[in-house]
Amino acid sequence: MEKKFFNHIVHGGDYNPDQWLKTPEIIDEDMRLMKLAHINSATVGIFSWSMLEPREGVYNFQWLDEMMDKLHSNGIDVILATPSGARPAWLSQKYPEVLRVEENGIRNDFGVRHNHCLTSPVYRKKVNAINRAIAERYKNHPALKMWHISNEYCGECHCELCQSAFREWLKKYYDNDLEKLNDSWWNGFWSHRITDWSQINSPKYRGENHISAMKLCWDRFVTDSHISFYENEIAPIREITPDIPITTNFMRMYNGIDYQKFAKHLDLVSWDNYPCFGESESNIDAAVETAFCHDTFRSMKNGQPFFMMESTPSLVNWHDVNKLPKPKMQTLTAIQSVAHGADSVQYFQWRKSRGSHEKFHGAVVDHCGNENTRVFREVATTGAALEKLSNVAGVYCDSKVAIICDWDNSRAVHHFCGYNNKRRDYYAECIKWYRPFWEMGVSADVISMDDDFSKYGLVIAPFLYMLKDNTESKIEEYVRNGGNFVMTYLGAVVDKDDLCYLGGLPANGLKKVFGIWCEETDSLPENMKGKATFNGKEYDVNHVCDIIHSKGAKILGEYRSDFYAGLPSVTENEYGSGKAYYVGFRNDEDLAGDFCRWMAEKENISADSDISVPCGVSVRKRGDSIFVMNFNNEDKEIILQDGSKTVIAANDYLVL
Ligand code: GLA
Ligand code: ZN
Repeated sequence: MEKKFFNHIVHGGDYNPDQWLKTPEIIDEDMRLMKLAHINSATVGIFSWSMLEPREGVYNFQWLDEMMDKLHSNGIDVILATPSGARPAWLSQKYPEVLRVEENGIRNDFGVRHNHCLTSPVYRKKVNAINRAIAERYKNHPALKMWHISNEYCGECHCELCQSAFREWLKKYYDNDLEKLNDSWWNGFWSHRITDWSQINSPKYRGENHISAMKLCWDRFVTDSHISFYENEIAPIREITPDIPITTNFMRMYNGIDYQKFAKHLDLVSWDNYPCFGESESNIDAAVETAFCHDTFRSMKNGQPFFMMESTPSLVNWHDVNKLPKPKMQTLTAIQSVAHGADSVQYFQWRKSRGSHEKFHGAVVDHCGNENTRVFREVATTGAALEKLSNVAGVYCDSKVAIICDWDNSRAVHHFCGYNNKRRDYYAECIKWYRPFWEMGVSADVISMDDDFSKYGLVIAPFLYMLKDNTESKIEEYVRNGGNFVMTYLGAVVDKDDLCYLGGLPANGLKKVFGIWCEETDSLPENMKGKATFNGKEYDVNHVCDIIHSKGAKILGEYRSDFYAGLPSVTENEYGSGKAYYVGFRNDEDLAGDFCRWMAEKENISADSDISVPCGVSVRKRGDSIFVMNFNNEDKEIILQDGSKTVIAANDYLVL
């Protein structure tokens, strides 16, 4: 059943009136300005703990009561946050165990944010209590439309409580069997066999940090700690407001938490989008990367609309150099998110803070305090445009193609030592194989290896170095039943615990599915390029390549350099009623594009619409609407379905 949470596109963002309580006229002015900017939602309370509980057990909800009422009477919905992302000084002082211990073993002082232990029972109890109080207070408030849990969960803690929790996690994972752990971590190597669980500590630079399987365990433990911390946060909220949807905001492709796993615990996925528009001559790379992120977050819940919980209305303050985006880029960012399945366009933040760390971060209302700014006008234009797009709100998206970009695999790729240690840009590799579909106007999902493959005509798995227990059988079954599966270099090398598959690569039965055997892997220094072909065209071999032999696969290309010249570089194997392709080398230019276009033509994977566009113009269909977005800094001509031509201005869009 497709769940629909909103019937309009939510337009709003982080609103921190608690920073302005001493100037109530500013808050009144906010209400006027919000209406002018077509704002229909405000996210309140994200870091408000010290204002809500100024002293232990003493709550002050008066200001928030007033804010909720004021927003509601002005027709603005509220997304209410829980404040666990940063805690009051009194709490840290009285219960030092809540503070995070870094890898160096030293406990942090009070300060910044996300500076808490995820395991600490005291912190969990305090968070649970404040969340219960907030939920009780506002459970029947008509403005409350969604819960925003904490803010950008991240990081890890190495305190004693977390060390014990890690050991408990390992006991569970290895069925309480230390021998299993020793085998899985290959602890015979360097005399690392462990004889008691208490000998295990978190991986750190001054201790154990070379066992890749252990580091994977730690990553998984950190993800599970965040999930269990979150479950503790939402317990009272679910109990008190079972019908209000819950989300937490993710950060782009942040590697520290397995978002694909975490997403299963949310009602709705949301993420914070800060594309690097304006930071290079062309915005096209940033547009592709952002589209990829949108599609990744949308795919986490089978095409369910997601929220773009934050974006900047102008610049950020945390790049080395913070360039102002050009006019229209804010609107284009908003439209792109909706085109890819977002039900919201939200900003960080509504009003620029006067002091502290983010006082120069872009906001809808600048320090000048009025609506007469370029940024404000653009936000208002965006808001007016979004009001016309209610028809797509709640509309799910589906795709014919999937790229596997798996969080767990990304960590395994990051941890191993060998081959080309400098080239581990896993996400960039996934984006490289996603990009041709973006260019062709073919919508693609970005999925994990645990997701269902069967609904796609084509699945591409770049650098899928690690397989989980059932991945091999899923690939086999998918191809046997008629699917097209593409795997690239260093594919199917290790199992879920980073143990190499024995008996030749790719793993086990996949040799038969792909009709190949991979004998060796070569790595090339930056200044050295090999040569290989695909469909008769010659390409550079960049950074890494597999030396493969056909065991029945059709050879689509061969190496032209080094001692492996003449051996296959790209293969195609018929298996069951489908086909398995292996692309043995990395190329940083045209190969992925040429390969995907060839596949699309051969397998009748056609664009979602028959609008014809030049490079840098993206076409995206959502429901009955077709979005055409020009990411070029020049005007471009496009050809519409009826054959007529029209010009789309630089950084502008059309909705057809
Ligand atoms: C993140 C945070 C916000 C703010 C912005 C600044 O996304 O969630 O609180 O710090 O970054 O870009
Ligand atoms: Zn801890």
